[in-house]
Amino acid sequence: MKIAVYPGSFDPITNGHLDIIKRGTKIFDKVIVAILVNVDKKGLFSVEERKELILKATKDIEGIEVIDFDGLLVDLLKEKEINVILKGLRNSTDFEYENTMDKINKKLNKDVETIFMISESEKSYISSSAVKQICRFGGEIDGMVPDSIKDDIEKKMRCK
Ligand code: COA
Repeated sequence: MKIAVYPGSFDPITNGHLDIIKRGTKIFDKVIVAILVNVDKKGLFSVEERKELILKATKDIEGIEVIDFDGLLVDLLKEKEINVILKGLRNSTDFEYENTMDKINKKLNKDVETIFMISESEKSYISSSAVKQICRFGGEIDGMVPDSIKDDIEKKMRCK
């Protein structure tokens, strides 16, 4: 069985993430969407809330599992006995960052491989921070987040 871990903060999940998840399930038998901690970021949604949003947004997609993990990505992979990471690339900035992350993960475990998918161009401007910022100041996040969770995000950000 071909399994990949799709890691991220998902604070919150966006249509950009959803695009990678959907395309990932066409290549892998199973995609494990893993909510991990990025120590450089102060989260807004709790891990439980992020998980609920991901589950709601992906309820019609087969072949995925949603988990959270507090630790190194390589340790999660070891625990699950998986050595493939799935990631999206939006632009050259992502490439620079992911290039380093790949090397760090390989230093920690040389058997880990990351498969990159280029984001659809109309989704390459989306980020979780942009969604939060637009929403906080009352802007329209239509098309940036899955329709099924747009209300939940707006409620949390108090713009409704
Ligand atoms: N479409 C749209 N947006 C996307 C996207 C896509 N395909 N892929 C990523 N993004 C956005 C994310 O929402 C995020 O937005 P934000 O910065 O506004 O929050 C941004 O691009 C960066 O995403 P990503 O590079 O995936 O970072 P992340 O913070 O979501 O996740 C972890 C990073 C959690 C996977 C990483 O820190 C990690 O592995 N942590 C565990 C500890 C560890 O092992 N560290 C490695 C050793 S240093």
